[in-house]
Amino acid sequence: MRIALLGPPGSGKGTQGVVLREAYGIPHVSSGDLLRAAVRDGTDLGRKAKAFMDAGALVPDDLVLAMMKERLAKDDCRKGFLLDGFPRTRAQAEALTKMLGEAGTPLDHVVSLSVAEGEIVARLRGRREQEGRSDDSDETVRQRMRVYVAETAPLLDYYRSHGVLREIDGVGKPQEISGRIRSAVGGSR
Ligand code: AP5
Repeated sequence: MRIALLGPPGSGKGTQGVVLREAYGIPHVSSGDLLRAAVRDGTDLGRKAKAFMDAGALVPDDLVLAMMKERLAKDDCRKGFLLDGFPRTRAQAEALTKMLGEAGTPLDHVVSLSVAEGEIVARLRGRREQEGRSDDSDETVRQRMRVYVAETAPLLDYYRSHGVLREIDGVGKPQEISGRIRSAVGGSR
């Protein structure tokens, strides 16, 4: 099973990624988590990515694509994977389609989680208070939302035209949302 989770900041991609990883026995590959680890470890990628992330901007495509190609080439991704936060631009989506197409392993499902802006702001305020993530200030969240609308939301049409888009209501208890996703994509471990 090869799935990508799309959705605005705070729509629950990470939360659902953890649940679905267990349900399907596939790795949860979060571009945001990989970038935050690179920042924490002080790698060359982390040093280049930090300012973009702190500003709520996207990290340049060439850096993200190199990171994701390396991660997806690892052995654990042979049986499938769950992408979270990638792709996020048309260039990333096209590069992923090409890479997976050449390997004969295209995405099976692209799950889009929809959550209204007011709910997102409330969720990320809650996370800021609990976890203190540096890009969860109200101003940076608003910028991340603008970037989502401009750069990532157009991918819904791209994946709809490829016949793999599953649109899911992302509001409710996390386990209800997992159930909706599992009904839409089917299969199991
Ligand atoms: P990334 O880490 O991907 O952040 P994001 O997309 O903004 O998403 P979040 O992690 O904020 O939210 P989420 O949808 O995962 O929701 P979560 O489950 O955490 O990216 C961060 C930055 O990295 C980007 O801004 C960019 O700079 C860079 N980056 C990453 N990928 C990139 C790429 N491909 N290209 C370029 N740059 C890239 O939930 C959020 C909160 O809500 C939590 O507190 C959670 O407990 C709560 N919650 C979850 N579900 C529910 C529910 N059903 N009801 C109530 N609360 C809920």
